[in-house]
Amino acid sequence: MPCLVIVGAQWGDEGKGKIVHLLSQYADFICRFQGGNNAGHTVVFDGNVYVLHLVPSGILQPHKKCIIGNGVVVDPEALLTELNFVKSKNMTTRNRLYISDLSHITLPYHRLMDSLGEETLGKQKIGTTKRGIGPTYSDKVARRGIRMSDFMDKETFYKLLKDNLKRNNDVLVNVYKQKKLSLEVLYRDYMKIAAKIRPYVTDTTVMVNKALDEGKNVLIESAQGTMLDLDFGTYPYVTSSNPISGGACTGLGIPPHRIEQVLGICKAYTTRVGEGPFPTELKDVTGDYLRKKGGEYGATTGRPRRCGWFDALVVRHASRINGFTGLALTKLDVLDDLDIIKICTGYKYKGKILKEFPHNRRMLEEVQPIYKQMPGWKTNTSHLKKYSDLPLNAKCYMHELEKLVGVKIAILSLGKDKYETIVLDKNITKFK
Ligand code: GDP
Ligand code: IMO
Ligand code: MG
Repeated sequence: MPCLVIVGAQWGDEGKGKIVHLLSQYADFICRFQGGNNAGHTVVFDGNVYVLHLVPSGILQPHKKCIIGNGVVVDPEALLTELNFVKSKNMTTRNRLYISDLSHITLPYHRLMDSLGEETLGKQKIGTTKRGIGPTYSDKVARRGIRMSDFMDKETFYKLLKDNLKRNNDVLVNVYKQKKLSLEVLYRDYMKIAAKIRPYVTDTTVMVNKALDEGKNVLIESAQGTMLDLDFGTYPYVTSSNPISGGACTGLGIPPHRIEQVLGICKAYTTRVGEGPFPTELKDVTGDYLRKKGGEYGATTGRPRRCGWFDALVVRHASRINGFTGLALTKLDVLDDLDIIKICTGYKYKGKILKEFPHNRRMLEEVQPIYKQMPGWKTNTSHLKKYSDLPLNAKCYMHELEKLVGVKIAILSLGKDKYETIVLDKNITKFK
């Protein structure tokens, strides 16, 4: 039952899409377990750039099977757009993509509530992707959500849509002074979409557990990152799901003992999109340099990403919660031209030194990073194929990160392209 979970170790956009696509050549099933189309996963190969939001990045490997698990929130309109995108690249989705009948659906009122809620928050906004993710998960937890299986059943969908729309229209009209959404129009439009999605909907828990029983290789792809986790991230500046390894069990319906490997994906520096604390953020020319060289603009919203130095407290916190058995270090090439590279090894707070990531929101706003300086390597690394060819200073930087996080680097990524990668631990391709 080889099973590998891929998790973001920072605030998302660590390069999960690239690594999932790379490892999916060794997988039988590739599964998403949380989030929705707030994710933007970039895959680059043969000169083409693909950005996926809902469908697992494994879909770009012909013949592999992909699952959208119960923990994912699915916007049916966005899903159709993405299915058409995949088909436009001459790749099939039928009999390759399976969507859990237990996943919850995102409807237009969720998107509206997300945007209007953010506007109301003003300066205190979260900086969401406005894809309706928070409101969809809120409905799920409040036990009024609409699941894929409800959506597939005409009468149930009509009744649930009617009840939900009534409540949402009351808020739209009375609180936000907006126009009502029409039940009949929405129902008619979404019935057409339901017909197109129906062939993909099934009980994915049977499928994934059977695959594990048969010893198939299962690769599990998270969206977002540990610091955006609803419980362990920088609350309230987080997403509304659990993008951690534990979330794979609840988001797919697999028992914890099935998971054998947990690969933490982290950038050689740090980025974050949206609001919220970011102790090592650089609001200077070095931050601008990282943004430009790293192409740090959101794959979903196009927003410039905030950039900063590698924060060992963040990745150690992520390792503790996820149980990383290895790291994939991405974007080391972005640091190629720098004279000096800094790593945050602790925080100063009111005269004290903190060695672990604090949870208190006031503390997080006030902490001052303590840095260790490392010399740069001033050499282009993107074309390198062997660890032994790396400049000594790049190796020293990697070793320092391994030491501070307490986990070995299994994969080193030195460019956007699938082939700009060095696999350091071949066991990772066996998922066990
Ligand atoms: P994800 O959300 O974790 O899948 O990451 P995104 O796709 O949102 O953002 C990562 C960005 O970095 C994408 O533009 C990737 O093409 C790019 N990328 C991934 N790995 C590397 C790398 O090692 N070097 C460089 N220069 N770019 C990379
Ligand atoms: P991938 O999978 C980076 C951030 C948003 C915002 C917060 C809440 O590509 O790594 P939401 O729309 O989820 O309610 O927004 O979470 N966010 C991401 N940041 N990468 C992502 O996904 C993200 N998905 C959500 O910017 O700060
Ligand atoms: Mg992304």
